[in-house]
Amino acid sequence: MSTGTKARVAVLISGRGSNMAALLYASRLTDCPYEIVLVASDKGHAAGLKLAEAEAVPIFAAPAGLKKAELFAALDQALRSSGAEFVALAGFMRILPPDFVAAWEGRIVNIHPSLLPRYKGLDTHKRALEAKDLIAGCSVHVVTPELDDGPILGQVEVAVLPGDTPDSLAARVLIAEHQLYPRALADLVMRDRTPEALLQRVRELAMALPGAEEAVSHGMSCFRVQGGKMFCYFTEDHHGDGIIAIIAKTSGPDEQAQLIDQDPDAYYRPAYFGPSGWIGMRLEGAVDWERVGDRIASSWSLIAPRKLAMLREF
Ligand code: GAR
Repeated sequence: MSTGTKARVAVLISGRGSNMAALLYASRLTDCPYEIVLVASDKGHAAGLKLAEAEAVPIFAAPAGLKKAELFAALDQALRSSGAEFVALAGFMRILPPDFVAAWEGRIVNIHPSLLPRYKGLDTHKRALEAKDLIAGCSVHVVTPELDDGPILGQVEVAVLPGDTPDSLAARVLIAEHQLYPRALADLVMRDRTPEALLQRVRELAMALPGAEEAVSHGMSCFRVQGGKMFCYFTEDHHGDGIIAIIAKTSGPDEQAQLIDQDPDAYYRPAYFGPSGWIGMRLEGAVDWERVGDRIASSWSLIAPRKLAMLREF
C-alpha cells in the first residue's frame, strides 16, 4: 500500500510512548493500512516525543500552562494541520472534553490496560490483583465522552502469575498492548474504507439535502430529487474499472475539464456519464469528505427545483 492511500493517524501521548512506538514501527511494515503523521503531547518533556523526532515523525508539544480548553484547542489545531483522519491515544493521560470527542466522533481510539468494562480509570493492575483476578489484559476501544467506555475493538488476555505485583503484571500487559494496538487500529481504518462504509458516508451527505431520495440505477446506488433527476451516483468497480467514486453533475464540460486539470488524482471523466459533463470523484485513500459533500451539494443545486433550492439557502 503506497503512502497517500494510507489512513493518516496522529498519536497523542503524555509520557514514555511505547505504544506510540509499537504503532509507528507496525506502520512501517509492508501493507500496513495507516501511517503516523503526527505525535503530539500535552507534556513538552514526554519521552515519546524524542523518539518520534528521532524517527523523523512530525511532533507537537503543547506549551506549558495552558487551560484545559486552550490545550485541546491547540491539539485540535495541530491534528487538523497534520491532515490526520484518526487519533490514537497512547498513554495520553487527560480526560477529553466532550466537544473535542464530538469533533472527532468515531475517529479517536484508546488503549487501556484492563479487560474493559472492568477497571476503567487508573490503577488497573493493582485493582485486578486486589480482586484476585486470574486473567488481566488490555483493550482498544473507540473513545466516547464517557471515560474508557466506547465500543471495544479488540482485547488481549494476559495470565496473572503467582506473586505478580502491579509492576510485573503491567510489564506483561504492555507486551500484549504492543501486539493489540497496531492490529486493532489497522482493522478500524480498513473498516472505514470498505465500499459499504464509503457508501454510507455518501448516503449521509446526499440524504441531508432537501428532497433527496435513494434509488438504484444500472446497479449503482444513486440519489435523486423527489422522484425526479439524479444528482449523485455511487460507483464501485463499475464495468470492472476498479474505481470507487461518486459521479456528480457539473455545470458542463468546462467545469469538468477544470476540475480534472486542478486535481487529476481525485477527479476523472467517467465512462458513459463523461460526455454529458458529469465528473467522477474518487473515494480512495484519505478522502476529503468536506470536498465530497460540496461536490454532491453543487450537483444537487444544478438540478433541484427552485422551491427546494431556496429551502437550502435558509
Ligand atoms: C499503557 O499501559 C497504556 O495502556 C496506559 O498507559 C500506559 C502508557 O504507556 N494507558 C492508560 O492507562 C490510559 N487510561 P506508553 O506511554 O509506554 O504507551
